[in-house]
Amino acid sequence: MNFRGRDVISIRDFTKEEILYVLEIAEKMVPIAKGEKKSNLLNGYIMASLFFEPSTRTRLSFESAMKRLGGLVIGFAQPGTTSIKKGESLADTIRTAESYCDVIVMRHPHEGSARMAAEFAEVPVINGGDGAGHHPTQCLLDLFTIKKEKGHIEGNKVALLGDLKYGRTVHSLAYALALFGVEMVFIAPPELQMPKEVIEECREMGAKLEIKNDIEDISDVDVLYVTRIQKERFPDPEEYNKVAGSYRIDAKTLEKVKDDMIVMHPLPRVDEISPEVDKTRHAAYFRQTFNGVPVRMALLALVLGGIE
Ligand code: NCD
Repeated sequence: MNFRGRDVISIRDFTKEEILYVLEIAEKMVPIAKGEKKSNLLNGYIMASLFFEPSTRTRLSFESAMKRLGGLVIGFAQPGTTSIKKGESLADTIRTAESYCDVIVMRHPHEGSARMAAEFAEVPVINGGDGAGHHPTQCLLDLFTIKKEKGHIEGNKVALLGDLKYGRTVHSLAYALALFGVEMVFIAPPELQMPKEVIEECREMGAKLEIKNDIEDISDVDVLYVTRIQKERFPDPEEYNKVAGSYRIDAKTLEKVKDDMIVMHPLPRVDEISPEVDKTRHAAYFRQTFNGVPVRMALLALVLGGIE
């Protein structure tokens, strides 16, 4: 399998075998991600981290991944300090960044921006989230987490709860789970349900899925994947006010779930998971956060050719 020079724009560009290969490499990266083992695999390589939208985990885990492998990082997290402020186009910003680096990681508020950047850049572009579109690296770390926590991806029943309309992590995850033939339940208030095209395509891929408006019964669910309401993507603040606070996971919700059911969340959380859940055996979201490092190390090593 050859990933050298490849862009990572959407999880739909990956086959099941390719996904499993990335997860296998990620597993090998865990001791390096924890700092227990040292590596110089990407010594001499430079990653440009271009963040046009807020980020904590995606940016820091990419930077940590690159540095743990002996590579270097340049970039910005505040586009207001760059020439974009003077009116420079995304295309010109990308052409500039690529002349200083070997790989670009970009997050941008517009859907399709990562694909566009990849067309302009010769170096590989990794999508760190494009608006409400895709978030392929989050998806890989979510799959890695499910595999690690449950032992396998197939055979689980996964409920996606929250803002399924604007949440890019759940769009990517739904496609990937459909690819693995995983049974899914989409739980969201009607205004925030999964876009029709995602539902249709998952069904065309043969996925068994249910659509619900509230979380009345999750007793047969193995993985509960919760997301926050993506306030910044609502065209009208009134629409946000209507759905704000419409779901919340707390100790009571967990009374009737399977003993080994795990709760995942890409984070940041706002109020959709009560902090009392953090200390229960169900909470997997902080381990999920750590998993971003080995998974992103695997991807960087693969696209830069550090691993064939
Ligand atoms: C998510 C994102 O940016 O899409 N965060 C992340 O990358 N871990 C989820 C979110 O912002 O709600």
